[in-house]
Amino acid sequence: MSIFYKFTNLIAFATLVSNSTCQEDTFLYDTFPPGFQWGFSSSSYQIEGAWKEDGKGVNIWDTFVHRIPSPIPDKSNADIGCDSYHKYDHDVSLLKYIGAGVYRFSLSWTRILPTGRIDQINPAGIRYYNNLINLLLANGIEPMITLHHWDLPQPLQDLGGWPNENVIQHYSNFANLAFHTFGDRVKKWITFSEPNVMCLNGYITRTYAPGHKNVNEAINCARNVIISHARVYRIYDRVFRPLQGGKVGMSLSSYWLQPKDPQNPEHRKSAEFWMHIEWGLFAFPIVFGSYNDETKQLLGKLRKFKLTSAPVEFTAEESVEIKVLNIPNYTNYESKDFLKCPHVLQILGSYDFWGLNHYSTYLVEPTKVTTSILHGDFIGLFLGAKISFDPTWPKSAIPHTPSVPWGFRKMLNWINQGYGSPEIYIMENGYPDSPNTGLEDVARVKFHRDYINEMLKAVKIDGVQVTMYTAWGLLDCFEWSYGYTVNFGVVYVNHSHPERPRTPKLSATCLQQIFSDNGFPHENFSPLKIN
Ligand SMILES: *[C@@H]1O[C@H](CO)[C@@H](O)[C@H](O)[C@H]1NC(C)=O
Repeated sequence: MSIFYKFTNLIAFATLVSNSTCQEDTFLYDTFPPGFQWGFSSSSYQIEGAWKEDGKGVNIWDTFVHRIPSPIPDKSNADIGCDSYHKYDHDVSLLKYIGAGVYRFSLSWTRILPTGRIDQINPAGIRYYNNLINLLLANGIEPMITLHHWDLPQPLQDLGGWPNENVIQHYSNFANLAFHTFGDRVKKWITFSEPNVMCLNGYITRTYAPGHKNVNEAINCARNVIISHARVYRIYDRVFRPLQGGKVGMSLSSYWLQPKDPQNPEHRKSAEFWMHIEWGLFAFPIVFGSYNDETKQLLGKLRKFKLTSAPVEFTAEESVEIKVLNIPNYTNYESKDFLKCPHVLQILGSYDFWGLNHYSTYLVEPTKVTTSILHGDFIGLFLGAKISFDPTWPKSAIPHTPSVPWGFRKMLNWINQGYGSPEIYIMENGYPDSPNTGLEDVARVKFHRDYINEMLKAVKIDGVQVTMYTAWGLLDCFEWSYGYTVNFGVVYVNHSHPERPRTPKLSATCLQQIFSDNGFPHENFSPLKIN
């Protein structure tokens, strides 16, 4: 979970769906298609702890959280986190108890390669992930790996980090090792989790490691991530897929951007433009091998203001690597003609599915463009758009993440229509509340119930191909730039206790029922009685 802003805590509960007459809020009683997968997602930095044990090297989050003064509001860190390095067996038991069929976790690059480089492998790191994978499989839970969830090795940051293109080779070596070592048992891979957030917050807003403020670095970060993704996709395709038969994709964070006044064509234009950046900055090149027009326009503007010198185009060679050139006699890849031919689209691009991390919705309206982009509402000012949210939307502990279930369905339909009906895995979806909430986390129950119901409508009514849902997250753990001031877990973790004991909340029971029912088959579903 992540957002572009830093805000103070704010909690307010409001009544959701039940007595609404609005069509989009009508509850659907139905189940997901057979084989639909349910589970949870996590990331290594947030949960593992053991930050300098058993030969692990230092990564950029270790460095960032130990800065003085601390960049984290409660001055906390994840040196211990949820201690999942030692307690992964507890986590697997909880996953099994709730009925998860899949668990997405990320690899700590420096636990496996302490310097980030392939020439020094840490056997203890390999052993840890082998143990986790084997225990998951023994419990009937499919392991799914995220190769990179923001914790770049510090030695690679010292060379310039993601903005430096030499990281591409190091990342490819790491991915190759991971496929080679774990790919006999792991069949679903995420190359990057939310690289859009990683590049923006890490290199512009300073809220994430490495805490820079440099637009040019952010743009080069994005570019090198796209090229890295494509290279690793090709490695899997050529070397591992024939033997291992798995799937590789990327997971992007995307808000749904709703025109503030849907009747106003300028508002609609503004929201649509921003969607093409929000989702398309990474997704479009991975499908088509070039930036979309909206991204090119944005990069052009940034170049004009001398904020970046990054290229607006990929080289022909990079472009070929990113997309698959297997349509005979077709040369016009830059046009968006493909959007009209979904059956053709599916054989293009360096992805087997799309991962979507979705939390909330913004209202969008146009505003005057200004160059004072490094203060405040960065994205909006870049794009000539202003964001807001409807005061009636139920709020969470993060003010700019209100609960807007219908936005999820719109988001899914937008990807389905614009990106050739790809297979979509929901890799993150969850609700932040205050640590004082306790075990009766009613607002989280409502959040998951209503978001999953909108996903059900997208699948059953709209025909969107969503085949997996992993909630964020299982445990209350370190939450990036919020530290321990907000919680996402369906399981309470006592961080004052040396053993970090885990206690399931009401929301764990709710997901347990949704998972086992594969949706909402009948009206006597107990979480529905909560208004
Ligand atoms: C958390 O653990 C501490 C230390 O053992 C204990 O004093 C406290 O009561 C626990 N809190 C909860 C909510 O269980």
